[in-house]
Amino acid sequence: MDNISISTPDETTLGAAAQKFGVIEKPDLEYTDAVAEEMAPMYERVADVIPSIEWPFFAPYIKAINELKKKRNAVILAHNYQTPEIFHCVSDISGDSLQLAREATKVDADIIVQCGVHFMAETSKLLNPDKTILIPDQSAGCSLADSITGADVRLLREKYPGVPIVTYVNTTADVKAEVDICCTSSNAVQVVESFGVDRVLCIPDEYLAKYVATQTDVEIIAWKGHCEVHERFTAEELRNYRKADPGIKIIAHPECPPDVLAEADFTGSTSGMIDWVQTKRPQKVIMVTECSMSDNVAVETPGVEFVRPCNLCPHMKQITLPKILDSLLYMTDEVTVDPEIAARARLSVERMINLNN
Ligand code: 13P
Ligand code: SF4
Repeated sequence: MDNISISTPDETTLGAAAQKFGVIEKPDLEYTDAVAEEMAPMYERVADVIPSIEWPFFAPYIKAINELKKKRNAVILAHNYQTPEIFHCVSDISGDSLQLAREATKVDADIIVQCGVHFMAETSKLLNPDKTILIPDQSAGCSLADSITGADVRLLREKYPGVPIVTYVNTTADVKAEVDICCTSSNAVQVVESFGVDRVLCIPDEYLAKYVATQTDVEIIAWKGHCEVHERFTAEELRNYRKADPGIKIIAHPECPPDVLAEADFTGSTSGMIDWVQTKRPQKVIMVTECSMSDNVAVETPGVEFVRPCNLCPHMKQITLPKILDSLLYMTDEVTVDPEIAARARLSVERMINLNN
């Protein structure tokens, strides 16, 4: 657990958000008897997924963060891959990329703290240009977002004139500004079919594009981007799990390679997978996706046994309670997008949201 907190910035290094909202002094983070008693009901809920030895460290941070949110009129958005102490104990809104993008348009707060990766915070900024968007660690990136640039998309336009370009939301604002519309893993097929044409470019995730191609008659042209977490799962490991326990259910995220998806009983976005488990209530399930999600779902689905082939997203794991606290104290790291790029990128995100509505 990363417990190194950013030291208090001096006046001269304060960013624009800190100048606007002011800096708050670090609260006492001691695990006293009073803190233990106050936080005990919360721990009871997450006791199966947070070891008791870690709670004395987490509890004072959780208490301080929840108090600070009120003081700052801030909300915390957390992606399904955030660790349980963030997902269950400090977040106000949680979900998959599409849900977070939609909820970001509805929040009545001055400040949004995005617990997820950078492209998610950028999307929140696009949809909330007047709000202050903070990410607890600016370096929380994504291998898919890193796989393509706006210049690459302009070259694709030249190579495939007239072919609509759909980008997965796991991209920078620069890329979103160059495409026709965004999609997420939960609406990619619907978005691709919305053009009513025979051929669509679907970037940057090659495996999501291949999955979409299996669900539609539209010809899909893919890019070669991959998620460094999902590309590591193999069909063989899933077959071995199934051999060991033929009754097990396997559900997978469409960022996995095609031969992995072929082994799955269900394929869907992170929230699609959660809904599936909550509705079907299998006895034993493998969620073929980032590790923390099984922990988060397990809290809400007692009686379901989770087998956890664990692939961590190192970027999602950059977000920790100490960094969230620092974010709210010192108003760091603020996420901004060049207004000209933001105007065009916003259109791509809004087209997707309007289509879903
Ligand atoms: P979802 O939109 O399914 O939450 O996926 C986002 C992501 O980064 C998966 O790796
Ligand atoms: Fe990006 Fe993969 Fe991490 Fe999701 S899990 S943020 S796609 S690297």
